[in-house]
This record gives sequence, C-alpha cells and structure tokens, in this order.
Amino acid sequence: MILRYTLKERIVHWVAGFVYVYLLLTGLAFYTPKLYWLAVALGGGTTSREWHPWAGLVFVAATVFMYRMWAADMRITDADREWSRAIGRYVRNEDAHLPPVGRYNAGQKYFFWLMFLGGALLLISGVAMWFTASIPWSLRWLRHAAVLVHVSAGLATIGGFIIHVYMGTAVVRGGFTSIVRGEVSEEWARTHHRMWKR
Ligand code: HEM
Repeated sequence: MILRYTLKERIVHWVAGFVYVYLLLTGLAFYTPKLYWLAVALGGGTTSREWHPWAGLVFVAATVFMYRMWAADMRITDADREWSRAIGRYVRNEDAHLPPVGRYNAGQKYFFWLMFLGGALLLISGVAMWFTASIPWSLRWLRHAAVLVHVSAGLATIGGFIIHVYMGTAVVRGGFTSIVRGEVSEEWARTHHRMWKR
C-alpha cells in the first residue's frame, strides 16, 4: 500500500466536505421557498440563517488549508492539456491509454481551482450580504451584485461538487478509501496516477 493522504489532509478534506454539505442545504433553503423545508429540518429558518455565514467562514478556512497543502500539485501543465484532449479515453475507462498522470489529473486540478476561486467569490459576496445594513442605499447596486455573485458562484461549485462526489465514489473505485484511510494499492496508483506512483 502507498500513502496518498496524510491524516491532516484527510481531516481538512472532511471538514470542508461536511461543512460544504451544510452550506449547500441551508443555501438551497434560502434560494427558493420550495426548498425552505430544508432549513426547517436543520433547526429552523432563524438558526440556519445564523449559522450559514459562520459555516461559510469554516469552509473558506478549510479551503485555505487545502491551498497550502495542495496548490503546488495543482498547477496546470502542458501534460494536463494533453490529458484533457484525450478525455474521451478517460470517459471510456481506458486509463491505460491516457498520458501518464502525476498526483492529480487535469479534472481534479480544475475542480480544485473551481472550489478555491468559487470559495473566494462566495466569501466576498457573502460578507456583503452578512452586513447588508452597512452598505449605504446609494450603493444599492453592490447589494444586488452580491446576491448575483453569491448565487452564481454557489451554483458553479454545486456543479463541480456533484461531479467530484460522483467521480470519487462511483467511478474511480479505491479513491474513496484513500480519502478515508489514506492509503491506495500499488495497482491503483499505477492505473490512475502513474507518474506519482513512480
Ligand atoms: C462531501 C462529499 C465529498 C466526497 C464524497 C469527496 C470525495 C473525495 C475523494 C474520494 C477524493 C480522493 C480522490 C483521489 O485522490 O483520487 C477527494 C479528494 C479531494 N476532494 Fe473531495 N469529497 C467531498 C467533498 C469535497 C469538497 C466540498 C471539496 C471542496 C473543497 C473537496 C475537495 C477535494 C479536493 C481538492 C481533492 C483532491 C483532488 C481531487 O481528488 O479532486 N471535496 N474527495
């Protein structure tokens, strides 16, 4: 077996994971009255509205930790662009015919940057919505812009999140065990991340 994720990496990942799910559910409750029952199920509208921004700060802190741990491995290279062009093979599960991959493939790297940039936009727009009363009415376009940016960044990260969970649990077998127990088999490493294995 080979160590893929240290304990610290796994703890940071799962703090981000659980907090993101809470933000997703409460955020959807605020997004449309049709999903308001989610806030009721999570302790009520007032409680959800109180905790949502604080949970947002925890999520951003976890994302900053992820940046410090993984940003160096997430740089997009020419090899990633080559891998992206051959993505059809990845979809057909023909990993052996793909250009060799380092610790992360291009899809994982794009997801990382989507969550990082999305997190930054959610933070800026979220703080503006948290302290709306402090924004003077003459700058009301800022209030409207905050809502638009928050919803757009939220929806973009939800799209990435759905693909990430699907890939990590249903498509790439062994990936989920690695982010829970930390280890992968040599065979798994050779198949999915040949350069990293070497
Ligand atoms: C809550 C449900 C989640 C599940 C089931 C899940 C699953 C996984 C799995 C299986 C891996 C290991 C993939 C591998 O090394 O091959 C992983 C890695 C990773 N996760 Fe998650 N994750 C979740 C939430 C999140 C969230 C909310 C973020 C947002 C910041 C995130 C960010 C990452 C990143 C950046 C990696 C490393 C690169 C990658 O594999 O994409 N995860 N996750």
